[in-house]
Amino acid sequence: MIRQIEPWIDETELKEVTEVIKSTWITEGKKTEEFEGMMRQLTGAKHVIAYANGTLALYASLIALGIKPGDEVLVPDLTFIASANSVIMAGAKPVFVDVDKKTFCIDADNAEEKITVRTRAIMPVHLYGQAADMDKIMPFAKKHGLKVIEDAAESIGAKFRGKHTGTFGDIGIISFYGNKIITTAEGAVVLAEDAALAEKIYRLKNHGRKEKGVFIHEQIGYNFSFTDVLAAIGVAQLKKFQKIAKRKNELRKLYEDQLKDVIEFTYVDERTSLVHWFVNVLADDAEKLADFLEAKDVQTRRFFYPLHMQPCYKDMKQGRDFENSEYAYKHGLSLPSSVLLKDDEVMQVCKAIREYCTKHKSKAKI
Ligand SMILES: Cc1ncc(COP(=O)(O)O)c(C=O)c1O
Repeated sequence: MIRQIEPWIDETELKEVTEVIKSTWITEGKKTEEFEGMMRQLTGAKHVIAYANGTLALYASLIALGIKPGDEVLVPDLTFIASANSVIMAGAKPVFVDVDKKTFCIDADNAEEKITVRTRAIMPVHLYGQAADMDKIMPFAKKHGLKVIEDAAESIGAKFRGKHTGTFGDIGIISFYGNKIITTAEGAVVLAEDAALAEKIYRLKNHGRKEKGVFIHEQIGYNFSFTDVLAAIGVAQLKKFQKIAKRKNELRKLYEDQLKDVIEFTYVDERTSLVHWFVNVLADDAEKLADFLEAKDVQTRRFFYPLHMQPCYKDMKQGRDFENSEYAYKHGLSLPSSVLLKDDEVMQVCKAIREYCTKHKSKAKI
């Protein structure tokens, strides 16, 4: 089976992790600080705070920005469910917004239609490594006095007009879950410009304290800490980041060179420089193509199931105008996109896709 995604873990991670374990300091400490420093360098964010995972990082961001029960937060209809669930966790209501028909990221025009007196924030998601249109989103947020929480879980390395995703809004988060561009197994960082906000985010993960080892707590906080064992994996992964980014983008080019005459590839906005987390195509029928490829031992992944269609959100009235997210779900398919893929494996996948397209003689159009 050619796998859709797998992390690149080797001696580099083993060496870093071994050093941390030998040091016996395995909880959050110096290695986490080193990792945060490397993330500051990579993203250009002023403050970077390591977190247990991306879902909690989003939750803490919402809480730190004052989102509370009764508030509404605009979330794209096409995203991993954690974006919306973090809003529920904060006690607020996620309001689903259709996505742009080219980038599949939140559409500011549709967001305008979803504004109510209760709207307090917008959460653009930089989906599959593709940056959302921050030229539209930031003025839109300003016009309506909204906080901006960027869900950059999938977009490490992606820039919009030269600025790293996750650094436009009040807060951004990046996830390091096992299938992400780089991983720490579980884990995330919060990116912030404002020092007071960064301190709030830190306190929320550290039982309300500014420092560890102190037992007087000025505010209520929790334990969403990272660990130095995870940070060691992260440091090793960041050392390989340029190679990972290069190979990811090479994969997209390889697939595109082979298949662009038979299948549509997802759009790349010229204002962005991306790291293709997944190589995505738009098939006539994503389910059929996925089944065809599975029979040939090629693992793929359908696009996210639109939030308004999710069983767990069926009782939340959200309107019906989600043409583009439904289109994306029907047609979108993520091809094998692991940095470990060999060129001949890519060719094997391409051969199978060409066979499918020739049989079906149809090409999805955006
Ligand atoms: C868009 C998006 N948001 C949020 C998350 C949540 O991150 P985590 O799995 O680290 O909790 C993920 C990934 O898992 C994601 O893809």
